[in-house]
Amino acid sequence: MTMSTPPATSKHLSSLICPQVEQNLSIPPSPLKLGIMASGSGSNFEAIAQAIAAGELQAQIQVLIYNNPAAKVIERAHRWQVPAQLLDHRDFQSREALDERIVQTLRQFEVEWVVMAGWMRRVTQVLIDDFPDRILNIHPSLLPSFRGMRAIEQALEYGVRISGCTVHFVRLEVDSGPIIQQSAVPVLPGDTPETLHARIQQQEHKILPQAIALAAATQVRSGLKSEPI
Ligand code: GRF
Repeated sequence: MTMSTPPATSKHLSSLICPQVEQNLSIPPSPLKLGIMASGSGSNFEAIAQAIAAGELQAQIQVLIYNNPAAKVIERAHRWQVPAQLLDHRDFQSREALDERIVQTLRQFEVEWVVMAGWMRRVTQVLIDDFPDRILNIHPSLLPSFRGMRAIEQALEYGVRISGCTVHFVRLEVDSGPIIQQSAVPVLPGDTPETLHARIQQQEHKILPQAIALAAATQVRSGLKSEPI
């Protein structure tokens, strides 16, 4: 049997699978106060900032915390006039010590919800305990498959035909925790980690702002308790 090799056109993107989100989520009346943690290019930071600017997410970004002086996300923070704090992990004796400073900074900027948008460090109970069920992470796979580093390479090496991205509440175990939103992305013949990542990121930028609103709405409904949504 021969299989045809379809080109990567928008025809494929139209078949993406992502659960519908009800339009009228009962999120808190005042804007959600977000703290964003990022280590890289910050395209997810940008997506959140754009969703807020477009009125699609009732929130404001109080502060960006980044751990890598060369991270491009800092340029985006400047452009959006978001205060940014560099907390370089190399300056701290332990993961806990770094997390203590992160908590201090988040408190200083009156953050209520924390979004790990490409934060490439494991977090500890110090941070998790201070924001119970209020820390979200985005990961470029359909969890629970392909946790940890190199998720996209892992998916390609395994040969899955469908990949995607997941937003979930953060627990101590890396890339675990109740799932808030997911989107499926087809793996196309000839995909490289870069091409697949680019396609997954298009979906990340949609589901991350949605997931923030969903998480907040769920806590409003259930009185600050996060269950799988
Ligand atoms: C995203 O693909 C996210 O899933 C992963 O790190 C990447 C960050 O991308 N955790 P960006 O810095 O937001 O562009």
